[in-house]
Amino acid sequence: MGFYGNVIFPRVLDYVMSTGQMKKTRAALLTEVSGDVFEVGFGTGLNLPFYPEQVKRLVTVDPNPGCNKRARKRIAASSIDVETHELGGESLPFDDACFDSIVCTWTLCSIAEVDKALAEMHRVLRPKGRLFFVEHGLADEDRTRGIQHRLNPLWKIIGDGCHLNRNMKDLIQDAHFQFASLENFYMPKSPKWASYMYKGIAVKG
Ligand SMILES: C[S@@+](CC[C@H](N)C(=O)[O-])C[C@H]1O[C@@H](n2cnc3c(N)ncnc32)[C@H](O)[C@@H]1O
Repeated sequence: MGFYGNVIFPRVLDYVMSTGQMKKTRAALLTEVSGDVFEVGFGTGLNLPFYPEQVKRLVTVDPNPGCNKRARKRIAASSIDVETHELGGESLPFDDACFDSIVCTWTLCSIAEVDKALAEMHRVLRPKGRLFFVEHGLADEDRTRGIQHRLNPLWKIIGDGCHLNRNMKDLIQDAHFQFASLENFYMPKSPKWASYMYKGIAVKG
């Protein structure tokens, strides 16, 4: 991983992923997370303050060493016992059916082999376990979709592998999850091509 991905990108991430609107979205999404919890794409640890009291322990993966380094001070400030793994979500070193909840926030856009990672999430969830997700992705309007497709090659470089045009509903559904809830909306005060959200809870059937 180069200087941009390891040093610059984690700093930018910390800043752009900390808006008031994002904090509200994290807080709303995480209220019902419980049991043995696994977070995919832990980033700089921005979800940590929003986990509810019942969460005592958290297992995470993220392949970016710079993000993991920045997450350390948040882990130190948290009462949650966090076990971090510096690796991608495509191949997980965990037993089948060992987690009750998986949290994935603005991460499916960045995983190179996203189908594999979703299959792994499905494998490590217990039956009836829940995937809590909020992701940006393919918009619902043709004009915005066109912009997303055109910008995607450049955006992948700027966003360290982030895709603008993934259909998160289809990806999650194709991985054999069932939606308990799914909301789509544009995040206010952001360009439409970057702000079409998929937020919800998907259950392992
Ligand atoms: C836009 S950031 C979101 C970080 C965090 N989830 C948040 O809400 O602030 C995307 C994250 O996905 C991580 N990522 C990239 N490739 C990944 C992979 N193969 N498996 C898991 N995470 C990955 C990146 O390192 C980065 O931390």
